[in-house]
Parts: sequence; C-alpha cells; structure tokens
Amino acid sequence: MKPSILFSAMAAALLLASCSQKQSTPPALIPQPVEMRVSSGRFRMVPGTSISWSGSPEAGGVAGQLALALRPATGYELAVAEGGDGNISLLIDTTREWKPEEYRLTVERKKVILTSGTAQGLFRGIQTLRQLFPPRIFGTKPAEDVKWTAPCVTVTDYPRFSWRGMHLDVSRHFFDKEFIKRYIDILAMHKMNVFHWHLTDDQGWRIEIKKYPKLTETGAWRVDREDKPWDSREQQKPGEKATYGGFYTQDEIREIVAYAAERFITVVPEIEMPAHAGAALAAYPEYSCTGGPFTVQPGGVWPITDIYCAGKDETFAFLEDVLTEVMDLFPSGYIHIGGDEADKTEWKRCPLCQARMRTEGLKDEGELQSYFVKRIERFINSKGRKLIGWDEILQGGLAPEATVMSWQGFEGGIAAARSGHEAVMTPVSHCYLSIYQGDPATEPESFRGLLTLKKVYSFEPVPPELTVEEAKLIIGAQGCLWTEYITNGTTAEYMVLPRLSALSEVVWSPTSMRSWEDFNNRLPKMMERFDAAGINYSRGSYRVDMSASYDETTGNIILEMTSERPSPEIRYTTDGSDPLPGSAVYSGPMKMTEKTTIKAAIFEDRKMVGRISSKTININRATGMGMHYNIPFSDRYRGHGNRTLVNGISGSGDFNDGHWQGFEGTDMDVVIDLGKTISVTSVSSSYMAATGSWIFLPRSVEYSCSNDSSSFTPMGTVSTEIDPADQGNMIETYFSSFPAVEARYIRVVARGQITCPPWHAGAGSKAWLFCDEIIVE
Ligand code: ACM
Ligand code: ZN
Repeated sequence: MKPSILFSAMAAALLLASCSQKQSTPPALIPQPVEMRVSSGRFRMVPGTSISWSGSPEAGGVAGQLALALRPATGYELAVAEGGDGNISLLIDTTREWKPEEYRLTVERKKVILTSGTAQGLFRGIQTLRQLFPPRIFGTKPAEDVKWTAPCVTVTDYPRFSWRGMHLDVSRHFFDKEFIKRYIDILAMHKMNVFHWHLTDDQGWRIEIKKYPKLTETGAWRVDREDKPWDSREQQKPGEKATYGGFYTQDEIREIVAYAAERFITVVPEIEMPAHAGAALAAYPEYSCTGGPFTVQPGGVWPITDIYCAGKDETFAFLEDVLTEVMDLFPSGYIHIGGDEADKTEWKRCPLCQARMRTEGLKDEGELQSYFVKRIERFINSKGRKLIGWDEILQGGLAPEATVMSWQGFEGGIAAARSGHEAVMTPVSHCYLSIYQGDPATEPESFRGLLTLKKVYSFEPVPPELTVEEAKLIIGAQGCLWTEYITNGTTAEYMVLPRLSALSEVVWSPTSMRSWEDFNNRLPKMMERFDAAGINYSRGSYRVDMSASYDETTGNIILEMTSERPSPEIRYTTDGSDPLPGSAVYSGPMKMTEKTTIKAAIFEDRKMVGRISSKTININRATGMGMHYNIPFSDRYRGHGNRTLVNGISGSGDFNDGHWQGFEGTDMDVVIDLGKTISVTSVSSSYMAATGSWIFLPRSVEYSCSNDSSSFTPMGTVSTEIDPADQGNMIETYFSSFPAVEARYIRVVARGQITCPPWHAGAGSKAWLFCDEIIVE
C-alpha cells in the first residue's frame, strides 16, 4: 500500500504542477513589480544549488550577498563562482539600455537568471527572489521541514521614483549602531534607497565632530527625565549631571555608511540649522545670539527660540567646519540642513543679526533665514554637493539649487516644482509614521492623529495640479519617524511596519499596478516574513473600528464596525466579555437602545487576529437632552455640535474623533435641561489630558442643580490629584454621588488650567480643556 499512496500523491502533485498555470495565485511580492508573468512549475533550492555571476566583478559581490542572505534559514553554504552555469545565475549586461535600478528575473524549474545593467539592479532583484521563496527564508536560524521552492516567474521591474526614503530621528532618542543596521536591512528588503538620518536636534547631538569635541561631550547628553511625559520635563538644574544619550563615533558612521552602500542605500545626513540647534548651542553657546547658557533639552520645547546667530561670521565658520567633516563621512549627493520651525525672536533682538539685515539689504527675518540657507548652500555646492531642507527654506526666497522636502503638506513641494526646484514629498498627513496607526487606547503612545495603513497606501506623491514637466521635479517621497515617544528599536519597528510596506509600493510600483485590496491580500505573507526575521510590526490594520453616531432628529445611536481588512470576520460581545470564535458575527449597523459595552475583534480560522476594540454606549438620563453653553466651545473642536456632551458616546484616545469638545483658555460651563424634574443621585463627566497638545485635565469640576435654571444648589465638587506634569496622555472621569435630589437643570463647571504651566513647552499660552461626555443618573 505504501508505495502506491506515495505514487498517487506524487502523481497528484505532478498533475497540479502541470495544470497550475491558471489556478496559481501570483506570489505575494511587496512592492509589486512592474510586470510579472507566472508560469507552471517551481524551482527548488537544495544544498548543492550553485550561484554563478558574470559580466562584472560587481555581480560577484551581489552573488555573495545572495548566498549570505539565503544561508541562515536554509543552513546551505551555496557555492558562488564566476561563470554562467550556476543554478542561480547573476549577470550584469551592459549591451542594452536599462532604466535606473531595472532588473529582469526569470525563474525556471532548473534555473534562475537575474540580469541587470548594474549591481544595484541585481541587488533589487535578489530582494524579489527572496520573497519568491517561503517566508521562512527570512529566518535567522535553519528552518526544519521547509521545501525551498520558488514559483516559475518572469519579472521585469524598476522603480517609479529615484528618492525612496525613510527617515529616523536619533536625537529625541538614541538608537545604537546595531539597530541602525537592522533598520537599513528593513529598508533594503523594501527596495528603499535613501536613509535620511536626523542626527542633530535640541535633545541631542549624535555625530562625533573632531574639531568640536564638546558637540558630543556636552551635546550628546541630557538629564534623564524619561519617567515624565515628553512635554512635561523640567530643565536641567544647575550642577545636575546629564547622563542620558549617546552618539556615533566617526568610525561607526563610516561603518554604517558602508553597510548601507552595500545595500545600495544612500545615507543622507541631516545637520539642523538655524534652529533645532539647542544641543549644539549647549556645547558652543558663542554661536548663538545671546551667548547662552543653554542646556540639552530633556523633552519637548516650543516655540524653538534657541537659534544660531546669523550675524556672526564665526557661526558660519563653525557650521562649515562641521559640514566639512560631515561631507567627508557621507558621500551622498544631498546634504540635509534642516531649516524647519525656526522662531526668529532672538534674531529680532540681536544687534548683530539686525546689522546683517541692514548690510545685506534684507527686509525681514524671513529673508535673513534665506540669507543663512543660501550662504550654507554656496559652501555645500562648492564641495560638489546639493542642499536639501524642510519646506521652511522657501521662506524669504529659495536658495538657487536647493531641493525642498515638503512636510507641512503638499504646498512646499508644489511651490518648489513650480519654481524649477526638485522636491521630495513627505507630508505629515501620509508620511509621518510617528503618528498613531490605530486606536490610541491600545497603541503605544504616539503623536496625536491617525495615519492608518490604508491612508499611507492611498498616498500619491505627485500633486495633480503640477504640469507634466513640473511633475518630473518630484523626485520621490519618504516616510519620517520622529522618536519623541519611541525609546527603543522594537517600538520603532512597530511604528514603521507595515506602513513602510505600503509606502514602498507607493514609491516603487507604477500607479497602474496599485490596488489596496490586492496589497492587503499580499500583506499577510509580508507579516510572515517579518515573523521569520524577528522584526516587530503592527497589526493595527487588523483592528475593528467602532464608530457611533448620534442622529439629532431621531435621537438614535447607531454603532458601526469597520476594518481595513478585506471582508473581515468581526465577532463581538455586549456583556463586557472578550469575544470568542463563537461570539456573534457583526453583519451591519446596530441601533443601540441601552447602556452597553461592546467588544469586538477580527477572527480568521477561528483564531483572533489583532486586538480587541471596545466601546461603551452610555445611555443615561442626560442623553439627548437640551444643552446651554455659558461659555461657548471652540470652533476648532466642536465635536458634532450642541449635543456632543450628551449623546451617550464616549470619545476615543483621539481628540479629533468627533466626540470631543474643546475649550481654549477658558473653563467649561454648561447647563443640561433634563426636560422634567427627576430624582438625581450622581453626575460624572470625563476629560482628556494630552499635554503634548496643550490639553490638560480640569483642576476641579463643580456640579450643581436647579429647578428654574437661575438659582443653582451645589451637589458636589471633584478635584484631581494628578499633577499636570504627570498627566501626559490620559482620560479621567470626575464622578460625584450624593443623596437623591429633585432637579430639572444640571450645571457642570470644569475649572481649566487656562494657561500652560511655566515648565511646559507652551508656558503662558492658552491651555485646552477637552470633554467628551456628561452622565446623569
Ligand atoms: C518637521 O517635522 N519639523 C520637519
Ligand atoms: Zn544674532
């Protein structure tokens, strides 16, 4: 019996292979190649598989990299030799024209042929080849029981953009050399080609400069306030030692630049000026307007008034010296000089800056900034390099050769392209991967807002208003990772992935090949690759989004559940328990008629994938009742208007979700008309703190009641014990219960901070108070 079963299994397999042409699903490649044809059969890699290379010794280099990349998971020491007769053959072919980074990959049953005009193209091609093997090929240890086969395909592929970037801020938190290499590997597997390294800022200077040793002796270290929220950190006190930070030696920088170059990734260094220079000025205060002293900031600071003095020639000599060492270390064509968010307060007060404006005929400080950037550009150009800066370098007139990195939106890139300058698009709205990717209630603390995987995927870097000629100046796009809230590599990976996978397709694949649904179907395989490689990533897109809406006319509360996953199986409970494979399946919008906590999650094959989402619908005596505002809410955060605070729906951790109402620089003072006199035993109201966004909990909340809406009797006052410096991001409920009172009107007065406290980044400016719901029982 045994042999015949074996035979029939083999026969079935053969049969499948021979007729697989129609049924085979295309391999799940990310980013999607320009052209791929799948044919029947599979190539099988075994210990004796050989790799050959020809055309140029550089092909040999890539062949060696391929052998190394395949080794950990397979355990195979594949032979690499010059020639064309290996089972896997790499060829640099200069006899025909190739597009930049173009490659052609043919996988046949007995042979794999990878051809390109350059080693760079071959390297992009081996990323595709790796993805054709089972995901465990990305593993770091030999995998048992895996047949290393790849489907027969012909791929022709090249990138859409020449700048496919990913940025990392190492100032707000420091990441060691090993992590930087890991990050570069993640970029490489996504065929990205620029690593934008944000090396200096107010919170730390991270690159050794031989001529100015204090830049790292002093500038790389700050006092350790990591236990406090980012925007509530006390400045360094006199005599206090700065112990938190780190920097890269020049040898480490060279090692990383070489590591990236082997992966055909250019490292673009960023040295911030004229602002975001606090760490540098802590080391060399003489290059500021005031002379200091300054300390390295342990947390958030706003506005950023510490600035290099544009009136002193010594400042420019210093920056040129620094840039000279930087350009020796980084062979990149572009040097990033920052240029963002410079507050000009000190320049307005500084006699030297004012004198510079007079002698140079500059009409305002915006033009002084332009003078600054142009002067630095002349120096950078004199060394054969090009200047790139954040879009604020447009202020006061763009430097002649400058490239603009458009972050505040698309406008900077549009203005640059229209004036004949190159631009790289990285609008906050689609590219800032430091923003929440899921419900703040279940995500690690991040920048406020919501940038979902789907939104990143929807990003189109070329604004439609540009002409065909102008559009050519959009050289690409990049993701940015600011690390105020990211203290370690594991979290950095979680924030970047899989949104970088989406972005890689935006910058690599032709627009015509892009499909959100198709990407989503390929994504699980990419996640298996991350799992195999031990790379952390988010399943934020496996989240159930619950949105409740209040219908002003009917008073109905309708709950809807959606997900970014295609056709998700959503299961939910209404009794507070966690959903299980047997829980009710969501099939459409639900009308909520009583107080309920709904918990929901996505299931696949009877297993929960992703996290549980939860929402409480709090129908109570105040729900849908009349509201009178003694102090109006801010027009900027209106929620959905007058019944926002009595709609039975609590807000999420996102203060922009439509359920929060904001009061700027004032208390909140509202009166609820219950419609008739009822017996009331408790009142509560809930508030948000997001101190990084200048939102603080109320100091106290006073509840009172009335039957005529003019004379109110106090029922209770609830104060918070949470110091504003410790509030960070939180939601707090102020609950008050009392012996039953008969009342028709309930007044709620929340006493706000009014202004940001003296230690806060926004000291003295108006503080916000945010309320989502008032509950009367
Ligand atoms: C920036 O986010 N300030 C470039
Ligand atoms: Zn000055």
